[in-house]
Amino acid sequence: MLKCDSDHHWWARYRPPMPESEPPAADTPPFNDSLLSDHVDIARKVASGGYKWTHRAPEWIPAFVAEHDLGPFPAMRNRLREVVDLGGFGYHATIDHMIEAFCGWSTRRYGWTPDPALTVPNTSVIQGVWSCVEAFTEPTGAVILTPPIYFPFNTISESTGRRTVDWRLIKDDNGWHYDLDGLAHLLADDPGIQMLLLCHPHNPTGRVLTTDQLTRIVELASEHDVVIVSDEIHADFTYPGATHVPLAAVPGAASCTVTVTSGIKTFAMGGLRASVASFADEDMLVRYRRIPEHLLGSPNRLGCEAAIVGWEEGDTWVDQLVALFDHHRHHLASRLADELPDVRMHVPQSTFLAWLDLSALGPGDRPGRWLRDRTGVDCKDGPLFGPGGEGHARLTFGTSTALLDEIIDRLVSGIGTSPASSLETDIGNSAFH
Ligand SMILES: Cc1ncc(COP(=O)(O)O)c(C=O)c1O
Repeated sequence: MLKCDSDHHWWARYRPPMPESEPPAADTPPFNDSLLSDHVDIARKVASGGYKWTHRAPEWIPAFVAEHDLGPFPAMRNRLREVVDLGGFGYHATIDHMIEAFCGWSTRRYGWTPDPALTVPNTSVIQGVWSCVEAFTEPTGAVILTPPIYFPFNTISESTGRRTVDWRLIKDDNGWHYDLDGLAHLLADDPGIQMLLLCHPHNPTGRVLTTDQLTRIVELASEHDVVIVSDEIHADFTYPGATHVPLAAVPGAASCTVTVTSGIKTFAMGGLRASVASFADEDMLVRYRRIPEHLLGSPNRLGCEAAIVGWEEGDTWVDQLVALFDHHRHHLASRLADELPDVRMHVPQSTFLAWLDLSALGPGDRPGRWLRDRTGVDCKDGPLFGPGGEGHARLTFGTSTALLDEIIDRLVSGIGTSPASSLETDIGNSAFH
């Protein structure tokens, strides 16, 4: 049901001049389904019922979910419409095609060709990660995490019983970095470690590992008989100045790596549930197969169809999207530096996520909520991301240029003029949680 019905609200400014459902005028140029539109129709987002735009939006601007607003890729929507119109809801056999499409995308975009015979479908990337924990670690084994880290990873211990060991990223004046000597020490000191879970590129800091760093990580993993699970879901958003090198393409990675990824971030199709896990060699796949196939489930038809269209036809659209978010990351960083210097941010090398350091403002132990209460911009609380998350909030800048400016304007007007000391006190008085 359309909640967004009043012209008095801020979001009315973000409506298109004409409802999208009206037929185009006779002289409208043919619709180009590879063209990215830098526009978010908020009423439509709300009506579509997705989590991002209905959870606490549109009253607050949703910048807490790692989902961008510029989807869906039009060709994908057309294909799904076709399948729906045809009533294609029965059992399906599109998984092999989806895997071929993934292998083609990876070859074209990254020069790494996964072996389709060593690539399996999952419903979600998280399922891929969790099933690898089951397959490659003993109940008494340990998994290395890289905090501050995508928060669901921090629940591995609670949900699987495995120990987790923190390999913390380190922050200096140039941003967040991996400490490879630190990894060497962790592995040398703890023989129980059986898995390293990489988030490559890294959510929330946007850090991208270089080939040299990946090579060293592979050497250490091989030396200590550790499996590396590389979550590469954000790889498509790697900006000029950095290069995404798939871990599996690094020499020596063949015997110890699993790549888990999907098109859901790139094409904003998280609700469709379709992802892949690609194994570097057959022995690893055999070990993985010890998990009964039927416990793993499989992607549904619409998820597969969407992924196929994205991976086969999405190059031009994704290039435009990445160029837009490349602009956004610099624009956000530069406006914050000029207008809100107490909010510190390093320009991310990848992802459409900004990891904001609010510690100079005393945001308490719920920095995301602190920010939301003052600005109406709904961000994720940093402490959820584990050590390194204190004083931080994660902000999704994957939106239109106009909405990004609305977000920044609100940050500036909400906290820019208030002295830090007076802001610290009133968090408990908020009517909203
Ligand atoms: C690093 C990372 N992995 C996995 C996911 C979730 O993927 P899925 O919904 O397919 O489990 C996200 C979503 O934000 C993510 O950032």
